[in-house]
Amino acid sequence: MAGGYRYFETIEKHAALLGILTAIMVSIGGLAEITPLFMRAHEVRAANGVRPYDALRLAGRDIYVREGCYLCHTQMIRALRAETERYGAYSSAEESVYDRPHQWGSKRTGPDLARVGGKYSDEWHVAHLRNPRAVVPQSNMPGYPWLLQGKIDAELIARKMKVLRMLGDPYSDADISGAGAAVQGRTEMDALVAYLQGLGIANEPAGPAARAQGGTP
Ligand code: HEC
Repeated sequence: MAGGYRYFETIEKHAALLGILTAIMVSIGGLAEITPLFMRAHEVRAANGVRPYDALRLAGRDIYVREGCYLCHTQMIRALRAETERYGAYSSAEESVYDRPHQWGSKRTGPDLARVGGKYSDEWHVAHLRNPRAVVPQSNMPGYPWLLQGKIDAELIARKMKVLRMLGDPYSDADISGAGAAVQGRTEMDALVAYLQGLGIANEPAGPAARAQGGTP
C-alpha cells in the first residue's frame, strides 16, 4: 500500500513525468473513442428518403461553399434538448452521405441551417440573401446581391454529377442528361434558394419525431 503512494508521489512531484503519463492516458482514451467511429464510417448508408442532390440543388450547394456560408452557419443539430426544440430532430451521419465535403461546420454566428428548408418562402430567401437587413433589421449577415446576376454553368454541373456517380452516388443517365435543362437560364440565386429549401426536407431521416423529443441519441 505504502509503496503505491510512493509511486503517486514520485509522479505528482515531477511535472514532466506527470505530463507524459497524462498524455499517454488521454491518447489511449481518445483512440478508444475515435477508432470505432472510423471503422464504422464506411457502413453509413443513406437514410430513407435521402437522395443525391438534383442538378439545381447541387449547383446551389457549390455556391454555398464558394460564398463561405459555413463560416457562420452549421448544418449539425446536436442531440441536446435546447437544440432539438429550436431546430428540430438532431442530425445523423446518414443524412450527409451525399455531401462532399459535409457542411456541418463549427461556427454559429447565424442559426443552424440543417432543417431550414420550408421554414420561409423562396421570396423571403431572395430578399434576405440580397440584403438581410431588408427582412431582419438587426441582422449582421452580409448581402449576396451578385447571385441574382450569376448564371449556372450547365455543362459543369453535368460533369460534376458524372464524377459523383463514379464515387458511388446513384445518379441515373437521365439525371445527368437532364442536368442541362434543369439549370438552363437559372441564376445562382435560384440554385442557392433551391438548395436551402431542400435542407432537412429531402434529407429528413426515418423517425425524426422520435428523435426530436429526446436529448440523447
Ligand atoms: C458573417 C456571418 C454570416 C455569413 C457569412 C452568412 N450568414 Fe446567414 N445568417 C447570419 C446571421 C447572424 C443570421 C441571423 C439574422 C438573419 O436572419 O439575418 C443569419 C440568418 C440566415 C438564414 C435564416 C435562418 C433562420 O432559421 O432564420 C439563412 C437561410 C441564412 N442565414 C443563409 C445564409 C447563406 C445561404 C449564406 C451564404 C451565402 C449565409 N447565410 C452567410 C450570419 C451569416
